[in-house]
Amino acid sequence: MASSCMAGKDKMPQVENPTGFFGKLLARGMAWGHRGFYKNAAKVLDLQPDDSYLEIGFGSGLFIKKYAAHVSRIAGLDYSKDMVNLASSINKGLVKAGKAEFKEGNVSSIPWGDNEFSVVVGIETFFFWPEPKTALKEILRVLAPEGRLVLEMAYNKDDGRDHTKHIEKYNFTLYSGEEMKKLLVESGFSDVSIVYYKSIWIPFKGHVVPKGMVVKAKKGKN
Ligand SMILES: C[S@@+](CC[C@H](N)C(=O)[O-])C[C@H]1O[C@@H](n2cnc3c(N)ncnc32)[C@H](O)[C@@H]1O
Repeated sequence: MASSCMAGKDKMPQVENPTGFFGKLLARGMAWGHRGFYKNAAKVLDLQPDDSYLEIGFGSGLFIKKYAAHVSRIAGLDYSKDMVNLASSINKGLVKAGKAEFKEGNVSSIPWGDNEFSVVVGIETFFFWPEPKTALKEILRVLAPEGRLVLEMAYNKDDGRDHTKHIEKYNFTLYSGEEMKKLLVESGFSDVSIVYYKSIWIPFKGHVVPKGMVVKAKKGKN
């Protein structure tokens, strides 16, 4: 399963690759802190009972439990084996019923077949992906014709904040709405739209996220 860009996984910050007891605790804390982000992503997603859902970087899996349990099929892919275990346990009813499965792996090489999903989601994870274009092409491959991709990023280049410290600390790449549009179109997506939202991130000194970003794009008819 390990690809070349997972080679340095052990040295990654916990938010990029939550691991062990502390990682599991952090993942639950993130779900609590990210609940405003979840709400805004869910609004754009507008999940329907017949959706076939893939989430990349699901962390605790609590977004799925709260917002995606009613869809027809759920799949999840995350870098961290501990997140696979945590999300499987948090969603054990869905796993037991054969409706949900969680796998360890890298978005650059998605372990599912072509055209399998009507929707692919990534919440607070895209800025960690080491090969964004490879990842987007992989997502396009597993999406069914006219399927949709939704990527939520609270921190982004349009939010008016100075992120120098966060970039050093969390090892991520921030994008503007225009950069996301360009990346998505160059990777083969269409109908790209960007929604900005205002939210509060409570665990970290209760600071306001002035312009969180939710990006939506579509795969063409083929
Ligand atoms: C900041 S956490 C967000 C977790 C969850 N989406 C949430 O908002 O609560 C980022 C998650 O993305 C996963 N991740 C980061 N890079 C990844 C990659 N290249 N492929 C798959 N998962 C990745 C991490 O393991 C982690 O669980």
